[in-house]
Order: sequence, then structure tokens, then C-alpha cells
Amino acid sequence: MQQDKLKKVTEVFEKTFGNADGLRYFAAPGRVNLIGEHIDYCGGYVFPAALTLDTVVAAKPNGTRKLRMAATTLDGIYEADLDDIDSAQSLKWGNYQAGVAKELMQAGYKLEGLDMVYMVTVPFGSGLSSSASIELVTGIALTKIFNGTMDNIELAQAGQRAENKFCGVNCGIMDQFASAMGKEDHAIMLNCATLEYQYVPVSLGDNVLVLANTNKKHKLGESKYNERRAEVEEGLKIMQAAEIAEGVAPGNVKKDLCSYSVEDFKKLLKYIENPTIAKRVEHVICENARVKTAVDTLKAGDLNKFGELLREANQSIRYLYEATGDELDAMFDAAQGLDYCIGSRMTGGGFGGCTVNIVNKNHIEDFKETVGKKYFESTGNEALFYVCEIGDGAREIFLKEEIAMNIENEELDGIIILSDEEGNEESFEFVDIIEYDGIEYAVLLPVDENDNDVVILQVEDGKDGEDESYLGVEDPEVLKKVFEIFKERAKDDFEFVD
Ligand code: GLA
Repeated sequence: MQQDKLKKVTEVFEKTFGNADGLRYFAAPGRVNLIGEHIDYCGGYVFPAALTLDTVVAAKPNGTRKLRMAATTLDGIYEADLDDIDSAQSLKWGNYQAGVAKELMQAGYKLEGLDMVYMVTVPFGSGLSSSASIELVTGIALTKIFNGTMDNIELAQAGQRAENKFCGVNCGIMDQFASAMGKEDHAIMLNCATLEYQYVPVSLGDNVLVLANTNKKHKLGESKYNERRAEVEEGLKIMQAAEIAEGVAPGNVKKDLCSYSVEDFKKLLKYIENPTIAKRVEHVICENARVKTAVDTLKAGDLNKFGELLREANQSIRYLYEATGDELDAMFDAAQGLDYCIGSRMTGGGFGGCTVNIVNKNHIEDFKETVGKKYFESTGNEALFYVCEIGDGAREIFLKEEIAMNIENEELDGIIILSDEEGNEESFEFVDIIEYDGIEYAVLLPVDENDNDVVILQVEDGKDGEDESYLGVEDPEVLKKVFEIFKERAKDDFEFVD
């Protein structure tokens, strides 16, 4: 839970840097891409969702010119000097953060030294964008602490530039965009040419998304990622020359590979002599069309067809784009023919990493056992599985100020008066008890109509005949959930304004 992560980073901060007073907290997620692979850098449509696996940072200015970075799973402090930021390029860990700092300084930010503790729950090298989550959380921490005005889309772009220029991975915008703009329970249909986007609910009926990790680390810089990009750039040049040969004026040729339709491709294929380039171009153009169909299919609730398109997409990236490898192929193959798994495909950059699977929620354990066993038989590797929850994008996390509540021995009925630390009193009316995650919460609304504070308290059962007591709730995620459930239940009785 988010609350445990905040506790952990605070503890490590105190151990590493000392006093934690005034710490601020930020989070940015990893992502899963549902469909639309290796086409973000060709101006295509992609369909990623942010995960609840994320990177959380606790940060506070240190009065120096250095970013001092520690992590809950690493020993030592990694330093990047803001006045000599390029030297941080050689850092084994911390170079993504330094790359983002450099981008922000180039955009005019006056950064100062910061102490930061990172906790990354996105598994490294798993194709779930741990690097984008680190970039985005660093970007949001630096801009919020140093009074920035960048919005999350600009932060995503800064993260992408950092990864391209500072870290040498020629990635597209998808991962950073998903990490910046994710929305709970939704995927993002993103047009990578224009950055127009729409949120689409991921409604899977009786199914959940299960990520199956091959445990084969992919490292984009070392993989064939940049080679694939070069191949499709060559493909674009050939398609443009083909258009000209067919009578299109040079100034009017298409600018992105994904601007060509499947019909254009069939017509111009004869101009692509190199069969490898032809396969790469075919993948890109057909995958782009497939994303649009898949999103319509999901919106229409046709999950079987959606699953079918996921499988098709996998075979395209496997045989035409050749960006999977033995481990991913074995994991995909292991999930075929199971009637409780209606769709499966590799996700992310490929060459290792994870598959994403649509699995009936009553068969999650069967899925793990069967797929894990088959995968082990073919590769000798243990698979790891995560049931995937779709969360929000990069944000600051606020600790709810403790309200020193004066409610001892107070019965939660009728009007109760709460006072804060300054002794200011406010009257609330107890309106509901909500059960969430096995715990009961009391919801209180202010009596004064001009006041819009809502108080949510955790109900603790009294032990040994004692009265029950009511505790303040600090976890913003819990507050949000409880309030959402309450809103849904009470929508006929109260008017909620955003
Ligand atoms: C990596 C890159 C993304 C995208 C995917 C493949 O995750 O960072 O930009 O190209 O691979 O779809």
C-alpha cells in the first residue's frame, strides 16, 4: 500500500540523510501497453495503461548544488552535480534522474540540490517502464519543489528527451506519457503524432489482466531497439520515394509510417526490395490499424474479439518485427489453448520482459501454475506473475494533516463537534458507514452548507467492553476510495460539486 511505501522511504531518508522534517512525497507509475507496439516512434496509436507498481520518492532540498539519491533497495548515495551534470551520465544508477534534471535546466528551471530516496516497485528490466517511472517521479519532484509550471505532458516530453539524449535509448513517447497521464481503471488511446488522447475504461467483465514476467531482463540500449528504429526510418524513406514514383509531389508525401493505410502498403510494397524492411513496415502499418479496431472492440465490450486482436498483435511483433526472443515466445505459447485466458501478448519493448494476459478471475491460480510450469519446461526459468491494477499517473502525494480530533467517548450519531489543533470547532453530522477492504469507515459531512470539508474516520471496534473509537485516516488512496463509494451510494441524497 502507498502508506507503507511512504513509511519506508521516510525511514531510509532518516537513516541516509538525517532529519525528515518537511519531506515531500511523489509517485509515478510503470505501464503496461495493451496493444500498439513499436509504433509510437512511427506516429502511431498506442493503448497503454499506468500500473499501481510505481516509483515513490521522498525529497527535500539540501542547500547544496548536488542531487543526492538513495534507494530503498540499493546501498550508498549516488550524486549528480547540477553544475557538471554531464558527468552524471556515467552513473550506474541515477543517470535517468540526472538526464531529467538537465532537461529541466535547459528549459529554464533554476534547480537546487535535493536529497531523494527512491522506492521502485516496478520490476527492473521487465518491459514495464521502470525507467519512465523514475524519470517522471524525478521530474515532478524537481518541478514541484522548485516552483515549476510544467504540466504532466511537458514532463513526459522532458523524460523522453532525457532518455533519448542523456541515456542513449531512442525510445518514443508512450512510456513517459502513460506514466505522466495514467488514470485509475483506464487505458489511454494516444495518438503519438499529435499527442491527442482519450481515456477508455478497461472493463474486462469477469477477467483480470495478469502480467507474466519471463525474468529475462531486457535492456533497451543493448537490445535491438535502436536497430529497429533505424529499419523503420529506412522503410519510411522507401515509402516516400515510392509515393513520388507513383506521381505524388515531393512536398506532399506522408511524414510518418503510420500515416499510410494498409491499402497504401499493399500498393507500394513492390518498391520495398529488402524483405526485412518490408516485414518491419508491414508490422507498423497493420498494427496501427489493429489498435483502432481493438479500442473500438473493447469499447463495445466484445472481449473475445479484443483477445483475438491481442494474439494477432503478438504474432506480428514476433514474426514481422522480430522483437520477442525465446523467452517471450515460450511465455506466449504457454498461455495458448487455455479456455480461461482469452488473450495474451508480449508488452513493451520486447527481447525479454513480460506478456500481458486476460485471465478469468476464478482461474488466476490455474493460470500461474500451468503457464509457469510450461514456461519452466521450455526455458529453465521461473516465471513471475502479477495481477495488474491500473492506477493514476505522476503526482505529489499529500499526507492528510492530522486533525486532532476531540471525539473521545463521542457517539457517532446526531451532530458532533470536531476541533482542530488550534481549537477551531466545526459541526459535523454523521451520515454513513462505508466498508472498504474489510475495514469500516465513518463518513461525516459539515452541518454548515457553505463548508465542504468531509471527514472520514476509521472505526475501531472497542475491545473488552470499551466503546468503539474513531481514527484519522492518512492514506490518500483509502480516502479517495471510501469517498467514491460513499458518493456512489449517496448520489440521490446529496449534490457533489467537483
Ligand atoms: C519501449 C519504448 C517505447 C515503445 C515500446 C515499444 O517501451 O520506450 O517508446 O517504443 O518500447 O512499443
